[in-house]
Amino acid sequence: MAGRIVLIGLGSNVGDRAEHLRVALQRLGSVPGIAVVRASAVVESELVGDGPAQGKFLNAVAELRTNWPAVALLALCGELETMAGRVRPAPRNHPRPLDLDLLFDGDLHIDSRELVLPHPRWHEREFVCGPLRELGYDLAALPKVERPAVIESPVAMAAQCSRWLAGGCVVGLVPTMGSLHRGHASLMELARQECDRVVATIFVNPLQFGPGEDFAAYPRDLTGDVRLCKQAGVDAVFAPTVAQMYDPEFCSQVAVGPAAATMEGALRPGHFAGVATVVARLFALARPQRAYFGEKDAQQLAVIRRMQKDLGFPLQVVGCPIVRETDGLAMSSRNVYLSAEDRAASTVLSRALASAQFAWQQGERDRDRLLARARVVMAAEPRAQVDYIELRRDVDLAELPAGPVADVRMLIAARFAGGVRPVRLLDNARLGAGSWS
Ligand code: PAJ
Repeated sequence: MAGRIVLIGLGSNVGDRAEHLRVALQRLGSVPGIAVVRASAVVESELVGDGPAQGKFLNAVAELRTNWPAVALLALCGELETMAGRVRPAPRNHPRPLDLDLLFDGDLHIDSRELVLPHPRWHEREFVCGPLRELGYDLAALPKVERPAVIESPVAMAAQCSRWLAGGCVVGLVPTMGSLHRGHASLMELARQECDRVVATIFVNPLQFGPGEDFAAYPRDLTGDVRLCKQAGVDAVFAPTVAQMYDPEFCSQVAVGPAAATMEGALRPGHFAGVATVVARLFALARPQRAYFGEKDAQQLAVIRRMQKDLGFPLQVVGCPIVRETDGLAMSSRNVYLSAEDRAASTVLSRALASAQFAWQQGERDRDRLLARARVVMAAEPRAQVDYIELRRDVDLAELPAGPVADVRMLIAARFAGGVRPVRLLDNARLGAGSWS
Protein backbone atom coordinates (compact mmCIF):
# COMPACT_ATOMS: atom_id res chain seq x y z
CA MET A 1 0.00 0.00 0.00
CA ALA A 2 1.25 3.52 -0.80
CA GLY A 3 1.23 6.23 1.85
CA ARG A 4 3.22 7.86 4.63
CA ILE A 5 4.75 5.96 7.53
CA VAL A 6 2.98 6.98 10.75
CA LEU A 7 4.21 5.81 14.16
CA ILE A 8 1.78 5.49 17.02
CA GLY A 9 2.30 4.66 20.70
CA LEU A 10 -0.14 2.33 22.41
CA GLY A 11 -0.68 2.00 26.15
CA SER A 12 -3.11 0.35 28.56
CA ASN A 13 -3.27 -0.05 32.35
CA VAL A 14 -6.86 -1.16 32.98
CA GLY A 15 -8.48 -4.56 32.36
CA ASP A 16 -6.88 -7.10 30.03
CA ARG A 17 -4.09 -4.79 28.94
CA ALA A 18 -2.53 -7.03 26.28
CA GLU A 19 -5.96 -7.70 24.78
CA HIS A 20 -6.71 -3.96 24.59
CA LEU A 21 -3.48 -3.40 22.61
CA ARG A 22 -4.10 -6.41 20.34
CA VAL A 23 -7.70 -5.35 19.57
CA ALA A 24 -6.64 -1.74 18.91
CA LEU A 25 -4.04 -2.86 16.36
CA GLN A 26 -6.48 -5.24 14.74
CA ARG A 27 -9.14 -2.49 14.49
CA LEU A 28 -6.62 -0.02 13.08
CA GLY A 29 -5.54 -2.55 10.44
CA SER A 30 -9.10 -3.23 9.38
CA VAL A 31 -9.81 0.43 8.55
CA PRO A 32 -9.74 1.04 4.77
CA GLY A 33 -6.64 2.99 3.83
CA ILE A 34 -4.63 2.00 6.90
CA ALA A 35 -2.13 -0.86 7.03
CA VAL A 36 -0.35 -1.92 10.20
CA VAL A 37 3.14 -2.63 8.85
CA ARG A 38 4.64 -3.94 12.09
CA ALA A 39 4.51 -3.51 15.84
CA SER A 40 7.16 -3.67 18.55
CA ALA A 41 7.13 -6.15 21.41
CA VAL A 42 5.08 -5.08 24.41
CA VAL A 43 6.94 -3.44 27.33
CA GLU A 44 5.74 -2.70 30.86
CA SER A 45 6.06 0.79 32.42
CA GLU A 46 5.01 2.89 35.40
CA LEU A 47 2.90 6.03 35.01
CA VAL A 48 5.07 9.01 34.03
CA GLY A 49 4.12 12.25 35.82
CA ASP A 50 1.70 12.94 38.67
CA GLY A 51 -1.50 10.97 39.03
CA PRO A 52 -3.42 8.72 41.41
CA ALA A 53 -1.90 5.37 42.44
CA GLN A 54 -2.54 2.92 39.60
CA GLY A 55 -1.34 -0.25 37.91
CA LYS A 56 1.51 -0.50 35.44
CA PHE A 57 1.05 0.12 31.73
CA LEU A 58 1.69 -2.19 28.84
CA ASN A 59 3.10 -0.19 25.93
CA ALA A 60 4.08 -0.75 22.33
CA VAL A 61 4.82 1.25 19.19
CA ALA A 62 3.25 0.42 15.83
CA GLU A 63 4.19 1.47 12.33
CA LEU A 64 1.28 2.28 10.03
CA ARG A 65 1.21 3.06 6.34
CA THR A 66 -1.60 5.38 5.36
CA ASN A 67 -2.80 8.38 3.40
CA TRP A 68 -5.17 9.46 6.12
CA PRO A 69 -4.54 13.07 7.24
CA ALA A 70 -3.00 13.31 10.72
CA VAL A 71 -6.04 15.05 12.27
CA ALA A 72 -8.32 12.28 10.94
CA LEU A 73 -5.98 9.68 12.45
CA LEU A 74 -6.15 11.54 15.75
CA ALA A 75 -9.96 11.42 15.70
CA LEU A 76 -9.85 7.72 14.81
CA CYS A 77 -7.50 7.04 17.75
CA GLY A 78 -9.98 8.84 20.02
CA GLU A 79 -12.80 6.62 18.76
CA LEU A 80 -10.78 3.45 19.32
CA GLU A 81 -9.99 4.62 22.87
CA THR A 82 -13.71 5.14 23.50
CA MET A 83 -14.54 1.71 22.04
CA ALA A 84 -12.05 0.20 24.53
CA GLY A 85 -14.04 1.78 27.36
CA ARG A 86 -12.13 4.99 27.96
CA VAL A 87 -14.38 7.65 29.50
CA ARG A 88 -14.06 11.34 28.62
CA PRO A 89 -13.63 13.86 30.05
CA ALA A 90 -11.38 12.35 32.69
CA PRO A 91 -8.75 13.96 34.94
CA ARG A 92 -5.19 13.97 33.62
CA ASN A 93 -3.12 10.81 34.17
CA HIS A 94 -5.99 8.66 35.39
CA PRO A 95 -5.91 4.92 34.64
CA ARG A 96 -7.12 4.09 31.14
CA PRO A 97 -7.89 0.94 29.16
CA LEU A 98 -6.38 2.40 26.00
CA ASP A 99 -4.13 5.32 25.13
CA LEU A 100 -3.17 5.93 21.50
CA ASP A 101 -0.62 8.68 20.78
CA LEU A 102 0.44 9.86 17.35
CA LEU A 103 4.25 10.02 17.59
CA PHE A 104 5.46 10.82 14.07
CA ASP A 105 3.76 11.34 10.74
CA GLY A 106 6.50 11.16 8.10
CA ASP A 107 8.31 14.52 8.14
CA LEU A 108 5.21 16.44 9.14
CA HIS A 109 5.40 19.18 11.78
CA ILE A 110 2.07 20.25 13.30
CA ASP A 111 1.63 22.53 16.32
CA SER A 112 -2.09 23.14 16.72
CA ARG A 113 -4.49 23.10 19.63
CA GLU A 114 -5.43 19.46 19.20
CA LEU A 115 -2.22 17.98 17.82
CA VAL A 116 1.54 18.42 18.13
CA LEU A 117 3.76 16.39 15.78
CA PRO A 118 6.34 15.05 16.34
CA HIS A 119 4.96 14.20 19.80
CA PRO A 120 6.67 16.77 22.10
CA ARG A 121 7.72 14.30 24.81
CA TRP A 122 8.46 11.08 22.89
CA HIS A 123 12.19 11.25 23.64
CA GLU A 124 11.58 11.61 27.40
CA ARG A 125 9.66 8.33 27.59
CA GLU A 126 11.49 5.05 27.76
CA PHE A 127 8.27 3.19 26.94
CA VAL A 128 8.40 4.91 23.54
CA CYS A 129 12.20 4.95 23.05
CA GLY A 130 12.64 1.25 23.87
CA PRO A 131 10.08 0.02 21.31
CA LEU A 132 11.41 2.49 18.69
CA ARG A 133 14.93 1.11 19.16
CA GLU A 134 13.62 -2.41 18.88
CA LEU A 135 11.99 -1.48 15.56
CA GLY A 136 15.42 -0.37 14.35
CA TYR A 137 14.99 3.40 14.55
CA ASP A 138 18.03 5.58 15.21
CA LEU A 139 16.66 7.81 17.97
CA ALA A 140 19.27 10.51 17.37
CA ALA A 141 18.02 10.87 13.80
CA LEU A 142 14.35 11.26 14.72
CA PRO A 143 12.97 14.83 14.90
CA LYS A 144 12.36 16.43 18.31
CA VAL A 145 10.26 19.40 19.37
CA GLU A 146 12.32 21.33 21.94
CA ARG A 147 10.17 22.57 24.84
CA PRO A 148 10.63 25.24 25.88
CA ALA A 149 11.83 26.77 22.63
CA VAL A 150 14.23 29.59 23.56
CA ILE A 151 13.60 32.50 21.21
CA GLU A 152 15.66 35.68 21.09
CA SER A 153 14.28 37.55 18.13
CA PRO A 154 11.02 39.51 18.49
CA VAL A 155 10.12 38.68 14.88
CA ALA A 156 10.55 34.95 15.53
CA MET A 157 8.52 35.24 18.75
CA ALA A 158 5.67 37.01 16.98
CA ALA A 159 5.76 34.40 14.17
CA GLN A 160 5.64 31.51 16.65
CA CYS A 161 2.66 33.02 18.48
CA SER A 162 0.90 33.69 15.16
CA ARG A 163 1.27 30.02 14.26
CA TRP A 164 -0.18 28.98 17.61
CA LEU A 165 -3.08 31.41 17.27
CA ALA A 166 -3.73 30.17 13.72
CA GLY A 167 -3.75 26.61 15.13
CA GLY A 168 -6.59 27.59 17.48
CA CYS A 169 -4.43 27.75 20.62
CA VAL A 170 -5.16 29.95 23.62
CA VAL A 171 -1.80 31.62 24.33
CA GLY A 172 -0.89 32.65 27.88
CA LEU A 173 1.90 35.18 28.50
CA VAL A 174 3.99 35.41 31.69
CA PRO A 175 6.28 38.47 31.56
CA THR A 176 9.27 38.36 33.90
CA MET A 177 12.73 39.83 34.35
CA GLY A 178 14.23 36.39 35.03
CA SER A 179 16.19 35.19 38.07
CA LEU A 180 13.12 33.06 38.50
CA HIS A 181 11.78 31.63 41.76
CA ARG A 182 8.65 29.80 42.93
CA GLY A 183 6.60 32.99 42.71
CA HIS A 184 7.25 33.20 38.98
CA ALA A 185 6.71 29.45 38.64
CA SER A 186 3.24 29.77 40.19
CA LEU A 187 2.24 32.20 37.41
CA MET A 188 3.53 29.79 34.76
CA GLU A 189 1.77 26.83 36.36
CA LEU A 190 -1.56 28.66 36.41
CA ALA A 191 -1.05 29.67 32.77
CA ARG A 192 -0.24 26.00 31.99
CA GLN A 193 -3.59 24.96 33.46
CA GLU A 194 -5.60 27.63 31.66
CA CYS A 195 -3.91 27.91 28.24
CA ASP A 196 -2.86 25.69 25.33
CA ARG A 197 0.54 27.39 24.98
CA VAL A 198 2.52 29.27 27.61
CA VAL A 199 5.09 31.91 26.71
CA ALA A 200 7.37 33.19 29.48
CA THR A 201 9.41 36.29 28.74
CA ILE A 202 12.75 37.01 30.39
CA PHE A 203 13.90 40.54 29.83
CA VAL A 204 15.52 42.95 32.27
CA ASN A 205 13.83 46.05 30.94
CA PRO A 206 16.09 49.12 31.13
CA LEU A 207 13.13 51.49 30.67
CA GLN A 208 11.78 50.73 34.13
CA PHE A 209 15.04 51.36 36.01
CA GLY A 210 15.91 54.90 37.06
CA PRO A 211 19.44 56.35 37.09
CA GLY A 212 21.26 54.91 40.10
CA GLU A 213 18.95 51.89 40.28
CA ASP A 214 20.18 48.32 39.91
CA PHE A 215 19.72 47.65 36.16
CA ALA A 216 23.32 46.50 35.64
CA ALA A 217 23.38 44.53 38.90
CA TYR A 218 19.96 42.91 38.50
CA PRO A 219 20.54 39.13 38.95
CA ARG A 220 20.63 37.21 35.65
CA ASP A 221 20.69 33.41 35.14
CA LEU A 222 19.22 32.34 31.79
CA THR A 223 20.27 28.67 32.09
CA GLY A 224 18.62 28.25 35.49
CA ASP A 225 15.59 30.20 34.31
CA VAL A 226 15.06 27.97 31.27
CA ARG A 227 15.28 24.92 33.54
CA LEU A 228 12.57 26.33 35.82
CA CYS A 229 10.41 27.22 32.79
CA LYS A 230 10.73 23.64 31.52
CA GLN A 231 9.62 22.26 34.88
CA ALA A 232 6.64 24.62 34.88
CA GLY A 233 5.59 23.34 31.43
CA VAL A 234 6.40 26.52 29.47
CA ASP A 235 6.33 26.14 25.68
CA ALA A 236 8.48 29.12 24.70
CA VAL A 237 10.90 31.38 26.54
CA PHE A 238 11.31 34.77 24.90
CA ALA A 239 14.66 36.23 25.97
CA PRO A 240 15.62 39.12 23.71
CA THR A 241 18.58 41.47 24.12
CA VAL A 242 17.96 45.16 24.82
CA ALA A 243 18.99 46.03 21.24
CA GLN A 244 16.47 43.52 19.88
CA MET A 245 13.61 44.96 21.94
CA TYR A 246 14.40 48.63 21.40
CA ASP A 247 15.94 49.77 18.14
CA PRO A 248 18.28 52.80 18.27
CA GLU A 249 15.51 55.22 17.27
CA PHE A 250 13.02 53.85 19.79
CA CYS A 251 11.23 56.76 21.52
CA SER A 252 7.52 56.00 22.08
CA GLN A 253 6.30 55.28 25.58
CA VAL A 254 2.99 54.51 27.25
CA ALA A 255 1.90 57.37 29.53
CA VAL A 256 0.39 56.06 32.75
CA GLY A 257 -2.15 57.90 34.88
CA PRO A 258 -2.98 58.35 38.55
CA ALA A 259 -2.69 54.61 39.35
CA ALA A 260 1.04 55.09 38.77
CA ALA A 261 1.53 58.46 40.48
CA THR A 262 1.87 57.49 44.14
CA MET A 263 3.69 54.83 46.21
CA GLU A 264 6.21 53.12 43.84
CA GLY A 265 5.43 55.70 41.14
CA ALA A 266 6.34 58.59 43.44
CA LEU A 267 9.55 56.91 44.62
CA ARG A 268 10.60 55.69 41.18
CA PRO A 269 9.68 58.37 38.61
CA GLY A 270 9.24 56.86 35.14
CA HIS A 271 9.18 53.28 36.49
CA PHE A 272 5.59 52.45 35.59
CA ALA A 273 5.81 54.14 32.19
CA GLY A 274 8.74 51.79 31.53
CA VAL A 275 6.79 48.77 32.80
CA ALA A 276 3.67 49.67 30.80
CA THR A 277 5.72 50.26 27.64
CA VAL A 278 7.50 46.90 27.73
CA VAL A 279 4.30 45.06 28.66
CA ALA A 280 2.43 46.76 25.79
CA ARG A 281 5.27 45.77 23.46
CA LEU A 282 5.06 42.15 24.69
CA PHE A 283 1.26 42.14 24.28
CA ALA A 284 1.65 43.42 20.71
CA LEU A 285 4.29 40.81 19.87
CA ALA A 286 2.72 37.72 21.40
CA ARG A 287 -0.97 38.74 21.17
CA PRO A 288 -1.89 36.44 24.09
CA GLN A 289 -5.48 35.88 25.15
CA ARG A 290 -4.38 35.78 28.79
CA ALA A 291 -1.49 37.49 30.62
CA TYR A 292 -0.38 36.62 34.15
CA PHE A 293 0.93 39.05 36.77
CA GLY A 294 1.59 38.66 40.49
CA GLU A 295 -0.29 40.46 43.24
CA LYS A 296 3.16 40.73 44.81
CA ASP A 297 3.52 43.87 42.69
CA ALA A 298 -0.02 45.06 43.33
CA GLN A 299 0.49 48.57 41.98
CA GLN A 300 2.08 47.21 38.80
CA LEU A 301 -0.94 44.93 38.39
CA ALA A 302 -3.30 47.91 38.82
CA VAL A 303 -1.35 49.96 36.25
CA ILE A 304 -1.41 47.08 33.75
CA ARG A 305 -5.12 46.42 34.27
CA ARG A 306 -5.80 50.12 33.59
CA MET A 307 -3.57 50.14 30.50
CA GLN A 308 -5.24 47.00 29.13
CA LYS A 309 -8.64 48.71 29.40
CA ASP A 310 -7.51 52.12 28.18
CA LEU A 311 -5.61 50.87 25.13
CA GLY A 312 -8.08 48.05 24.45
CA PHE A 313 -5.74 45.07 24.34
CA PRO A 314 -8.06 42.12 23.64
CA LEU A 315 -6.87 39.92 26.49
CA GLN A 316 -7.57 39.06 30.09
CA VAL A 317 -5.13 40.23 32.76
CA VAL A 318 -4.96 37.50 35.42
CA GLY A 319 -3.77 38.42 38.94
CA CYS A 320 -2.01 35.62 40.86
CA PRO A 321 -1.55 35.25 44.66
CA ILE A 322 1.73 36.05 46.39
CA VAL A 323 4.10 33.11 46.98
CA ARG A 324 6.02 33.39 50.26
CA GLU A 325 8.96 31.79 52.01
CA THR A 326 7.89 29.63 54.95
CA ASP A 327 8.60 32.49 57.39
CA GLY A 328 6.30 34.84 55.48
CA LEU A 329 8.77 36.86 53.37
CA ALA A 330 7.29 37.40 49.89
CA MET A 331 9.58 35.81 47.31
CA SER A 332 11.54 38.25 45.18
CA SER A 333 14.55 38.07 42.88
CA ARG A 334 16.20 40.79 44.97
CA ASN A 335 15.97 38.85 48.28
CA VAL A 336 19.37 37.29 47.47
CA TYR A 337 20.99 40.66 48.19
CA LEU A 338 19.76 40.81 51.81
CA SER A 339 22.42 40.38 54.50
CA ALA A 340 21.74 37.57 56.97
CA GLU A 341 20.60 40.11 59.58
CA ASP A 342 18.35 41.93 57.12
CA ARG A 343 16.96 38.60 55.91
CA ALA A 344 15.99 37.76 59.51
CA ALA A 345 14.46 41.22 59.95
CA SER A 346 12.65 41.14 56.59
CA THR A 347 9.70 39.20 57.98
CA VAL A 348 8.63 42.46 59.57
CA LEU A 349 6.63 43.36 56.44
CA SER A 350 4.47 40.25 56.54
CA ARG A 351 4.17 40.55 60.32
CA ALA A 352 2.92 44.14 59.98
CA LEU A 353 0.35 43.01 57.42
CA ALA A 354 -0.66 40.12 59.68
CA SER A 355 -1.20 42.55 62.53
CA ALA A 356 -3.55 44.70 60.41
CA GLN A 357 -5.22 41.52 59.18
CA PHE A 358 -5.78 40.44 62.77
CA ALA A 359 -7.27 43.83 63.68
CA TRP A 360 -9.56 43.53 60.66
CA GLN A 361 -10.70 40.11 61.83
CA GLN A 362 -11.45 41.62 65.26
CA GLY A 363 -13.78 44.07 63.51
CA GLU A 364 -11.51 47.12 63.12
CA ARG A 365 -12.58 49.11 60.02
CA ASP A 366 -11.10 52.54 60.67
CA ARG A 367 -8.47 53.46 58.06
CA ASP A 368 -6.09 55.26 60.39
CA ARG A 369 -6.29 52.72 63.18
CA LEU A 370 -5.58 49.85 60.74
CA LEU A 371 -2.57 51.77 59.41
CA ALA A 372 -1.40 52.46 62.95
CA ARG A 373 -1.40 48.74 63.73
CA ALA A 374 1.02 48.05 60.89
CA ARG A 375 3.16 51.12 61.69
CA VAL A 376 3.75 49.95 65.25
CA VAL A 377 5.13 46.62 64.02
CA MET A 378 7.34 48.28 61.38
CA ALA A 379 8.67 50.83 63.90
CA ALA A 380 9.83 48.01 66.18
CA GLU A 381 12.33 46.83 63.54
CA PRO A 382 15.21 49.32 63.30
CA ARG A 383 16.78 47.60 60.25
CA ALA A 384 13.72 48.49 58.14
CA GLN A 385 13.40 52.04 56.76
CA VAL A 386 9.74 52.41 55.83
CA ASP A 387 9.04 54.07 52.47
CA TYR A 388 5.27 53.89 52.80
CA ILE A 389 2.42 52.04 54.45
CA GLU A 390 -0.84 52.59 52.59
CA LEU A 391 -4.40 51.34 52.72
CA ARG A 392 -6.08 51.50 49.32
CA ARG A 393 -9.28 50.44 47.59
CA ASP A 394 -8.53 46.87 46.51
CA VAL A 395 -9.94 46.98 42.99
CA ASP A 396 -7.74 49.81 41.63
CA LEU A 397 -5.63 50.98 44.59
CA ALA A 398 -7.38 54.37 44.62
CA GLU A 399 -6.86 56.47 47.77
CA LEU A 400 -9.41 56.21 50.58
CA PRO A 401 -10.82 58.96 52.80
CA ALA A 402 -10.26 58.68 56.54
CA GLY A 403 -12.95 56.71 58.39
CA PRO A 404 -14.51 53.28 57.93
CA VAL A 405 -13.35 51.20 54.97
CA ALA A 406 -14.32 48.04 53.03
CA ASP A 407 -12.60 45.98 50.28
CA VAL A 408 -9.12 47.26 50.97
CA ARG A 409 -5.53 46.26 50.39
CA MET A 410 -2.64 47.27 52.59
CA LEU A 411 0.69 47.93 50.86
CA ILE A 412 4.10 48.31 52.52
CA ALA A 413 7.53 49.17 51.12
CA ALA A 414 10.69 49.28 53.20
CA ARG A 415 14.44 49.54 52.61
CA PHE A 416 17.14 47.36 54.16
CA ALA A 417 20.67 48.69 53.87
CA GLY A 418 22.82 46.06 55.60
CA GLY A 419 23.80 43.90 52.60
CA VAL A 420 26.08 44.23 49.56
CA ARG A 421 23.58 46.71 48.18
CA PRO A 422 20.45 48.32 49.65
CA VAL A 423 17.30 46.29 48.98
CA ARG A 424 13.74 47.57 48.83
CA LEU A 425 11.09 45.04 49.78
CA LEU A 426 7.42 45.28 48.83
CA ASP A 427 4.54 43.39 50.33
CA ASN A 428 0.78 43.70 50.46
CA ALA A 429 -2.38 41.88 51.49
CA ARG A 430 -6.07 42.26 50.97
CA LEU A 431 -7.58 42.70 54.40
CA GLY A 432 -10.23 40.14 55.20
CA ALA A 433 -9.12 37.90 52.36
CA GLY A 434 -8.98 34.92 54.71
CA SER A 435 -5.69 33.91 53.14
CA TRP A 436 -2.63 36.00 52.45
CA SER A 437 -3.56 37.78 49.26
P1 PAJ B 1 9.54 40.36 37.87
O1 PAJ B 1 9.90 41.14 39.07
O2 PAJ B 1 10.49 39.34 37.34
O3 PAJ B 1 8.16 39.65 38.15
C1 PAJ B 1 7.50 38.95 37.14
C2 PAJ B 1 6.11 38.60 37.62
O4 PAJ B 1 6.21 37.69 38.72
C3 PAJ B 1 5.33 39.82 38.11
O5 PAJ B 1 4.00 39.76 37.65
C4 PAJ B 1 5.44 39.69 39.61
O6 PAJ B 1 4.38 40.31 40.30
C5 PAJ B 1 5.41 38.19 39.77
N1 PAJ B 1 5.98 37.79 41.07
C6 PAJ B 1 7.19 38.14 41.58
N2 PAJ B 1 7.35 37.65 42.83
C7 PAJ B 1 6.22 36.96 43.12
C8 PAJ B 1 5.76 36.23 44.25
N3 PAJ B 1 6.49 36.10 45.35
N4 PAJ B 1 4.54 35.65 44.19
C9 PAJ B 1 3.76 35.79 43.08
N5 PAJ B 1 4.15 36.46 41.98
C10 PAJ B 1 5.35 37.05 42.00
O7 PAJ B 1 7.44 42.44 37.50
C11 PAJ B 1 8.33 42.37 36.66
O8 PAJ B 1 9.26 41.36 36.64
C12 PAJ B 1 8.49 43.40 35.55
O9 PAJ B 1 8.10 44.65 36.01
C13 PAJ B 1 7.70 43.02 34.25
C14 PAJ B 1 6.18 42.95 34.52
C15 PAJ B 1 8.21 41.69 33.70
C16 PAJ B 1 7.93 44.10 33.18
O10 PAJ B 1 9.29 44.25 32.90
